[in-house]
Amino acid sequence: MGEKWVLMKTAQTPTNIAVIKYWGKRDETLILPVNDSISVTLDPAHLCTTTTVAVSPAFQQDRMWLNGKEMSLSGGRYQNCLREIRKRAREVEDKERGIKIEKKDWEKLHLHIASYNNFPTAAGLASSAAGFACLVFALAKLMNVSEDESQLSAIARQGSGSACRSLFGGFVKWIMGKEDDGSDSLAVQLVDEKHWEDLFIIIAVVSSRQKETSSTSGMRESVETSSLLQHRAKEVVPKRTIQMEEAIQYRDFASFAKLACADSNQFHAVCLDTLPPIFYMNDTSHRQVLVYICWIISYVEKWNRSEGTPQVAYTFDAGPNAVLIARDRKAAAQLIQRLLFYFPPKSDTDLDSYLLGDKTILKDAG
Ligand code: DP6
Repeated sequence: MGEKWVLMKTAQTPTNIAVIKYWGKRDETLILPVNDSISVTLDPAHLCTTTTVAVSPAFQQDRMWLNGKEMSLSGGRYQNCLREIRKRAREVEDKERGIKIEKKDWEKLHLHIASYNNFPTAAGLASSAAGFACLVFALAKLMNVSEDESQLSAIARQGSGSACRSLFGGFVKWIMGKEDDGSDSLAVQLVDEKHWEDLFIIIAVVSSRQKETSSTSGMRESVETSSLLQHRAKEVVPKRTIQMEEAIQYRDFASFAKLACADSNQFHAVCLDTLPPIFYMNDTSHRQVLVYICWIISYVEKWNRSEGTPQVAYTFDAGPNAVLIARDRKAAAQLIQRLLFYFPPKSDTDLDSYLLGDKTILKDAG
Protein backbone atom coordinates (compact mmCIF):
# COMPACT_ATOMS: atom_id res chain seq x y z
CA MET A 1 0.00 0.00 0.00
CA GLY A 2 1.32 3.47 -0.93
CA GLU A 3 0.81 6.34 1.55
CA LYS A 4 -0.85 8.90 -0.71
CA TRP A 5 -4.28 7.52 -1.50
CA VAL A 6 -7.71 8.14 0.02
CA LEU A 7 -10.69 5.87 -0.64
CA MET A 8 -14.17 7.31 -0.07
CA LYS A 9 -17.84 6.35 -0.11
CA THR A 10 -20.90 8.52 0.39
CA ALA A 11 -24.37 7.41 1.41
CA GLN A 12 -27.64 9.17 2.05
CA THR A 13 -30.17 7.87 4.56
CA PRO A 14 -33.57 9.30 5.47
CA THR A 15 -35.02 9.36 8.93
CA ASN A 16 -38.04 7.33 9.94
CA ILE A 17 -41.18 8.04 11.93
CA ALA A 18 -42.54 5.35 14.23
CA VAL A 19 -46.25 4.60 14.04
CA ILE A 20 -45.86 1.92 16.74
CA LYS A 21 -43.31 3.42 19.12
CA TYR A 22 -40.13 1.98 20.57
CA TRP A 23 -39.93 3.14 24.18
CA GLY A 24 -37.87 1.21 26.69
CA LYS A 25 -34.81 -1.06 26.60
CA ARG A 26 -34.25 -4.44 28.20
CA ASP A 27 -30.49 -4.12 27.54
CA GLU A 28 -28.91 -0.64 27.57
CA THR A 29 -25.57 -1.58 25.99
CA LEU A 30 -26.78 -3.75 23.15
CA ILE A 31 -29.88 -1.55 22.76
CA LEU A 32 -32.50 -4.27 22.92
CA PRO A 33 -36.09 -2.99 23.13
CA VAL A 34 -38.96 -4.11 25.33
CA ASN A 35 -41.35 -4.24 22.36
CA ASP A 36 -41.51 -4.46 18.57
CA SER A 37 -41.98 -1.18 16.68
CA ILE A 38 -43.09 -0.15 13.19
CA SER A 39 -42.09 2.96 11.23
CA VAL A 40 -42.35 4.66 7.88
CA THR A 41 -39.17 5.91 6.20
CA LEU A 42 -39.27 9.44 4.79
CA ASP A 43 -38.15 11.05 1.58
CA PRO A 44 -34.46 12.09 1.84
CA ALA A 45 -35.23 15.46 0.24
CA HIS A 46 -36.28 16.92 3.58
CA LEU A 47 -35.04 14.77 6.42
CA CYS A 48 -31.88 12.89 5.72
CA THR A 49 -28.26 12.46 6.67
CA THR A 50 -25.47 12.40 4.10
CA THR A 51 -22.29 10.74 5.28
CA THR A 52 -18.94 10.42 3.56
CA VAL A 53 -16.49 7.91 4.99
CA ALA A 54 -12.85 7.90 3.96
CA VAL A 55 -9.89 5.67 4.65
CA SER A 56 -6.22 6.44 4.05
CA PRO A 57 -2.86 5.20 5.37
CA ALA A 58 -2.13 8.89 6.01
CA PHE A 59 -4.88 9.17 8.66
CA GLN A 60 -3.47 9.03 12.20
CA GLN A 61 -6.71 8.34 14.07
CA ASP A 62 -10.46 7.86 13.59
CA ARG A 63 -12.15 11.28 13.40
CA MET A 64 -15.68 12.50 12.77
CA TRP A 65 -17.33 15.82 11.88
CA LEU A 66 -21.07 16.45 12.26
CA ASN A 67 -22.38 19.42 10.27
CA GLY A 68 -18.79 20.64 9.89
CA LYS A 69 -17.93 20.49 13.61
CA GLU A 70 -15.56 17.86 14.92
CA MET A 71 -17.07 15.59 17.53
CA SER A 72 -15.72 12.88 19.76
CA LEU A 73 -15.91 9.26 18.63
CA SER A 74 -15.07 7.98 22.10
CA GLY A 75 -18.70 7.19 23.01
CA GLY A 76 -19.58 3.52 23.40
CA ARG A 77 -22.26 3.66 20.71
CA TYR A 78 -19.86 4.85 17.99
CA GLN A 79 -17.19 2.44 19.14
CA ASN A 80 -19.63 -0.49 19.05
CA CYS A 81 -20.72 0.32 15.49
CA LEU A 82 -17.13 0.80 14.26
CA ARG A 83 -15.98 -2.43 15.91
CA GLU A 84 -18.84 -4.50 14.50
CA ILE A 85 -18.34 -3.16 10.96
CA ARG A 86 -14.54 -3.59 11.08
CA LYS A 87 -15.04 -7.22 12.12
CA ARG A 88 -16.93 -7.83 8.87
CA ALA A 89 -14.62 -5.83 6.55
CA ARG A 90 -13.34 -7.69 3.46
CA GLU A 91 -10.71 -7.15 0.81
CA VAL A 92 -11.14 -4.04 -1.33
CA GLU A 93 -9.35 -3.42 -4.60
CA ASP A 94 -9.31 -0.36 -6.87
CA LYS A 95 -7.31 -1.63 -9.84
CA GLU A 96 -7.37 1.70 -11.72
CA ARG A 97 -5.67 3.49 -8.84
CA GLY A 98 -3.53 0.53 -7.82
CA ILE A 99 -5.06 0.34 -4.32
CA LYS A 100 -5.52 -2.93 -2.52
CA ILE A 101 -6.69 -3.22 1.08
CA GLU A 102 -6.54 -6.71 2.52
CA LYS A 103 -8.93 -7.89 5.20
CA LYS A 104 -6.27 -7.69 7.91
CA ASP A 105 -5.30 -4.10 6.90
CA TRP A 106 -8.66 -2.70 8.12
CA GLU A 107 -7.61 -3.21 11.74
CA LYS A 108 -4.79 -0.68 11.48
CA LEU A 109 -6.28 1.77 8.98
CA HIS A 110 -8.05 4.86 10.37
CA LEU A 111 -11.27 6.46 9.18
CA HIS A 112 -12.45 10.02 8.65
CA ILE A 113 -16.21 10.51 8.71
CA ALA A 114 -18.12 13.64 7.64
CA SER A 115 -21.84 13.72 8.26
CA TYR A 116 -24.50 16.35 7.47
CA ASN A 117 -28.13 16.52 8.52
CA ASN A 118 -30.47 18.58 6.36
CA PHE A 119 -32.73 19.07 9.41
CA PRO A 120 -32.28 20.19 13.04
CA THR A 121 -30.15 17.76 15.05
CA ALA A 122 -31.75 16.30 18.20
CA ALA A 123 -35.01 18.24 17.98
CA GLY A 124 -37.21 15.19 18.21
CA LEU A 125 -36.86 14.56 14.49
CA ALA A 126 -34.93 11.34 14.93
CA SER A 127 -31.57 12.66 13.76
CA SER A 128 -29.73 9.79 15.45
CA ALA A 129 -31.82 7.32 13.44
CA ALA A 130 -30.70 8.66 10.08
CA GLY A 131 -27.18 9.34 11.41
CA PHE A 132 -26.27 5.86 12.64
CA ALA A 133 -28.06 4.10 9.77
CA CYS A 134 -26.11 6.20 7.28
CA LEU A 135 -22.80 5.70 9.08
CA VAL A 136 -23.18 1.91 9.13
CA PHE A 137 -24.40 1.76 5.54
CA ALA A 138 -21.55 3.99 4.24
CA LEU A 139 -18.91 2.02 6.17
CA ALA A 140 -20.33 -1.28 4.92
CA LYS A 141 -19.93 -0.01 1.33
CA LEU A 142 -16.41 1.26 1.95
CA MET A 143 -15.31 -1.99 3.59
CA ASN A 144 -17.07 -4.26 1.10
CA VAL A 145 -19.13 -5.87 3.85
CA SER A 146 -21.35 -8.63 2.48
CA GLU A 147 -24.10 -8.58 5.16
CA ASP A 148 -27.61 -7.67 3.99
CA GLU A 149 -29.65 -4.68 5.22
CA SER A 150 -31.27 -6.63 8.08
CA GLN A 151 -27.89 -7.78 9.37
CA LEU A 152 -26.56 -4.22 9.06
CA SER A 153 -29.63 -2.99 10.94
CA ALA A 154 -28.53 -5.02 13.97
CA ILE A 155 -25.28 -3.01 13.93
CA ALA A 156 -27.01 0.37 13.42
CA ARG A 157 -29.28 -0.57 16.34
CA GLN A 158 -26.24 -0.46 18.62
CA GLY A 159 -25.76 3.20 17.66
CA SER A 160 -29.36 4.21 18.29
CA GLY A 161 -32.35 1.89 18.49
CA SER A 162 -34.53 3.68 15.95
CA ALA A 163 -31.60 3.74 13.47
CA CYS A 164 -32.10 0.08 12.60
CA ARG A 165 -35.41 0.96 10.90
CA SER A 166 -33.78 3.52 8.56
CA LEU A 167 -31.88 0.83 6.64
CA PHE A 168 -35.02 0.21 4.59
CA GLY A 169 -37.57 2.33 2.75
CA GLY A 170 -41.35 1.96 2.97
CA PHE A 171 -42.81 0.49 6.18
CA VAL A 172 -40.35 -1.25 8.45
CA LYS A 173 -40.65 -3.43 11.54
CA TRP A 174 -38.00 -3.68 14.23
CA ILE A 175 -38.41 -7.16 15.67
CA MET A 176 -37.45 -6.97 19.35
CA GLY A 177 -35.93 -10.47 19.29
CA LYS A 178 -35.48 -12.96 22.12
CA GLU A 179 -31.74 -13.67 22.24
CA ASP A 180 -29.59 -12.09 24.95
CA ASP A 181 -26.81 -11.31 22.47
CA GLY A 182 -29.23 -9.25 20.30
CA SER A 183 -28.56 -11.32 17.17
CA ASP A 184 -32.29 -11.55 16.36
CA SER A 185 -33.16 -7.94 17.23
CA LEU A 186 -33.22 -6.44 13.75
CA ALA A 187 -35.29 -4.61 11.17
CA VAL A 188 -37.24 -6.11 8.28
CA GLN A 189 -39.07 -4.34 5.49
CA LEU A 190 -42.84 -4.93 5.66
CA VAL A 191 -43.65 -3.28 2.32
CA ASP A 192 -41.61 -1.05 0.05
CA GLU A 193 -42.22 2.65 -0.65
CA LYS A 194 -44.42 1.93 -3.67
CA HIS A 195 -46.94 -0.13 -1.74
CA TRP A 196 -48.93 2.81 -0.31
CA GLU A 197 -48.17 5.73 -2.59
CA ASP A 198 -51.24 7.83 -1.71
CA LEU A 199 -49.98 8.66 1.78
CA PHE A 200 -48.70 12.18 2.42
CA ILE A 201 -46.59 13.02 5.44
CA ILE A 202 -46.53 16.55 6.82
CA ILE A 203 -44.23 17.50 9.66
CA ALA A 204 -45.03 20.67 11.56
CA VAL A 205 -41.72 21.81 13.03
CA VAL A 206 -42.75 23.66 16.15
CA SER A 207 -39.30 23.89 17.52
CA SER A 208 -35.87 23.15 16.17
CA ARG A 209 -34.38 23.51 19.64
CA GLN A 210 -32.60 20.59 21.27
CA LYS A 211 -35.07 18.65 23.44
CA GLU A 212 -34.76 18.84 27.22
CA THR A 213 -34.95 15.11 28.01
CA SER A 214 -33.20 12.86 25.50
CA SER A 215 -35.03 9.73 24.35
CA THR A 216 -32.27 7.62 25.88
CA SER A 217 -32.61 8.98 29.40
CA GLY A 218 -36.39 9.43 29.10
CA MET A 219 -36.98 5.80 28.24
CA ARG A 220 -34.58 4.63 30.96
CA GLU A 221 -36.62 6.57 33.55
CA SER A 222 -39.87 5.14 32.11
CA VAL A 223 -38.53 1.57 32.36
CA GLU A 224 -37.55 2.18 35.98
CA THR A 225 -40.72 3.91 37.15
CA SER A 226 -43.74 3.45 34.86
CA SER A 227 -46.10 0.53 35.43
CA LEU A 228 -48.01 1.59 32.31
CA LEU A 229 -44.87 0.84 30.28
CA GLN A 230 -44.88 -2.77 31.47
CA HIS A 231 -48.55 -3.16 30.55
CA ARG A 232 -47.96 -1.49 27.16
CA ALA A 233 -44.98 -3.70 26.28
CA LYS A 234 -46.58 -6.98 27.34
CA GLU A 235 -50.28 -6.55 26.62
CA VAL A 236 -50.84 -3.71 24.16
CA VAL A 237 -48.03 -3.56 21.60
CA PRO A 238 -47.95 -7.28 20.65
CA LYS A 239 -51.61 -7.13 19.53
CA ARG A 240 -51.33 -3.65 18.08
CA THR A 241 -48.30 -4.63 15.97
CA ILE A 242 -50.24 -7.44 14.30
CA GLN A 243 -53.17 -5.11 13.62
CA MET A 244 -50.86 -2.41 12.25
CA GLU A 245 -49.13 -4.89 9.92
CA GLU A 246 -52.54 -5.89 8.58
CA ALA A 247 -53.63 -2.27 8.12
CA ILE A 248 -50.44 -1.56 6.16
CA GLN A 249 -50.74 -4.73 4.08
CA TYR A 250 -54.35 -3.91 3.05
CA ARG A 251 -53.81 -0.13 2.90
CA ASP A 252 -56.63 0.22 5.40
CA PHE A 253 -56.25 3.88 6.36
CA ALA A 254 -59.08 3.86 8.93
CA SER A 255 -57.36 1.17 11.02
CA PHE A 256 -53.92 2.64 10.35
CA ALA A 257 -54.96 6.08 11.65
CA LYS A 258 -56.73 4.67 14.69
CA LEU A 259 -53.73 2.55 15.69
CA ALA A 260 -51.08 5.22 15.00
CA CYS A 261 -52.92 7.92 16.99
CA ALA A 262 -53.64 5.52 19.85
CA ASP A 263 -50.01 4.41 19.99
CA SER A 264 -48.68 7.97 20.00
CA ASN A 265 -51.12 8.88 22.77
CA GLN A 266 -50.13 5.84 24.83
CA PHE A 267 -46.43 6.56 24.41
CA HIS A 268 -47.00 10.08 25.81
CA ALA A 269 -49.17 8.62 28.57
CA VAL A 270 -46.21 6.40 29.55
CA CYS A 271 -44.03 9.52 29.63
CA LEU A 272 -46.52 11.19 31.98
CA ASP A 273 -46.60 8.00 34.07
CA THR A 274 -42.81 8.30 34.52
CA LEU A 275 -41.33 9.71 37.73
CA PRO A 276 -40.66 12.60 37.43
CA PRO A 277 -43.20 12.97 34.57
CA ILE A 278 -41.89 13.77 31.10
CA PHE A 279 -43.98 16.02 28.91
CA TYR A 280 -42.49 15.96 25.43
CA MET A 281 -45.37 17.70 23.69
CA ASN A 282 -44.67 20.91 25.53
CA ASP A 283 -41.87 23.35 24.82
CA THR A 284 -41.43 25.93 27.53
CA SER A 285 -39.75 28.44 25.23
CA HIS A 286 -42.82 28.61 22.97
CA ARG A 287 -45.92 30.09 24.56
CA GLN A 288 -48.41 28.78 22.04
CA VAL A 289 -47.21 25.22 21.62
CA LEU A 290 -49.82 23.65 23.83
CA VAL A 291 -52.62 25.53 22.08
CA TYR A 292 -51.30 24.34 18.76
CA ILE A 293 -50.90 20.70 19.82
CA CYS A 294 -54.37 20.59 21.37
CA TRP A 295 -55.72 22.19 18.19
CA ILE A 296 -54.04 19.59 15.96
CA ILE A 297 -55.24 16.64 18.01
CA SER A 298 -58.82 17.85 18.43
CA TYR A 299 -59.03 19.10 14.82
CA VAL A 300 -57.87 15.74 13.46
CA GLU A 301 -60.16 13.78 15.79
CA LYS A 302 -63.20 15.96 14.88
CA TRP A 303 -62.43 15.95 11.18
CA ASN A 304 -62.01 12.18 11.11
CA ARG A 305 -65.33 11.68 12.90
CA SER A 306 -67.25 14.13 10.73
CA GLU A 307 -66.05 12.55 7.48
CA GLY A 308 -67.15 9.12 8.67
CA THR A 309 -63.77 7.75 7.59
CA PRO A 310 -60.40 9.03 8.89
CA GLN A 311 -58.53 11.53 6.72
CA VAL A 312 -55.42 12.10 8.81
CA ALA A 313 -53.35 10.34 11.49
CA TYR A 314 -51.14 12.22 13.95
CA THR A 315 -48.11 10.99 15.80
CA PHE A 316 -45.69 12.81 18.13
CA ASP A 317 -42.19 11.59 19.01
CA ALA A 318 -39.97 12.84 21.83
CA GLY A 319 -40.65 16.51 21.06
CA PRO A 320 -43.52 18.83 20.17
CA ASN A 321 -43.20 18.48 16.37
CA ALA A 322 -46.36 16.96 14.91
CA VAL A 323 -46.14 14.30 12.21
CA LEU A 324 -49.38 14.19 10.24
CA ILE A 325 -50.06 11.41 7.79
CA ALA A 326 -52.82 12.22 5.31
CA ARG A 327 -54.69 9.46 3.47
CA ASP A 328 -54.26 11.19 0.08
CA ARG A 329 -53.31 14.40 -1.69
CA LYS A 330 -56.74 15.96 -1.17
CA ALA A 331 -56.68 15.45 2.59
CA ALA A 332 -53.08 16.72 2.73
CA ALA A 333 -53.99 19.88 0.79
CA GLN A 334 -56.96 20.58 3.07
CA LEU A 335 -54.87 20.01 6.17
CA ILE A 336 -52.05 22.27 5.01
CA GLN A 337 -54.54 25.01 4.15
CA ARG A 338 -55.97 24.86 7.67
CA LEU A 339 -52.56 24.72 9.33
CA LEU A 340 -51.26 27.69 7.36
CA PHE A 341 -54.40 29.66 8.14
CA TYR A 342 -54.37 29.03 11.90
CA PHE A 343 -50.61 28.75 12.43
CA PRO A 344 -48.68 30.69 9.81
CA PRO A 345 -44.96 29.85 10.15
CA LYS A 346 -42.93 32.42 12.07
CA SER A 347 -46.02 34.04 13.54
CA ASP A 348 -46.62 34.34 17.27
CA THR A 349 -47.25 30.59 17.32
CA ASP A 350 -43.50 30.20 16.78
CA LEU A 351 -44.07 27.45 14.30
CA ASP A 352 -40.76 27.14 12.50
CA SER A 353 -41.88 25.53 9.25
CA TYR A 354 -43.76 22.72 7.59
CA LEU A 355 -41.99 19.90 5.86
CA LEU A 356 -43.66 17.78 3.26
CA GLY A 357 -42.45 14.24 3.28
CA ASP A 358 -42.93 11.15 1.25
CA LYS A 359 -41.88 7.56 1.60
CA THR A 360 -38.63 6.54 0.05
CA ILE A 361 -35.83 4.05 -0.17
CA LEU A 362 -32.30 4.10 1.07
CA LYS A 363 -30.02 5.70 -1.46
CA ASP A 364 -26.45 4.76 -2.17
CA ALA A 365 -25.01 8.02 -3.41
CA GLY A 366 -21.48 6.96 -4.12
C1 DP6 B 1 -39.87 8.33 20.60
O1 DP6 B 1 -33.79 5.55 19.03
O2 DP6 B 1 -33.52 7.93 19.81
O3 DP6 B 1 -38.61 8.30 18.60
O4 DP6 B 1 -32.04 3.89 21.28
O5 DP6 B 1 -31.64 5.47 23.16
O6 DP6 B 1 -30.88 6.07 20.85
P1 DP6 B 1 -31.90 5.32 21.69
O7 DP6 B 1 -33.30 6.05 21.45
P2 DP6 B 1 -33.96 6.55 20.10
O8 DP6 B 1 -35.50 6.58 20.57
C2 DP6 B 1 -36.55 6.87 19.69
C3 DP6 B 1 -37.82 6.97 20.45
C4 DP6 B 1 -39.01 7.49 19.67
C5 DP6 B 1 -39.89 6.33 19.19
C6 DP6 B 1 -39.39 5.56 17.99
O9 DP6 B 1 -38.69 6.11 17.12
O10 DP6 B 1 -39.79 4.38 17.88
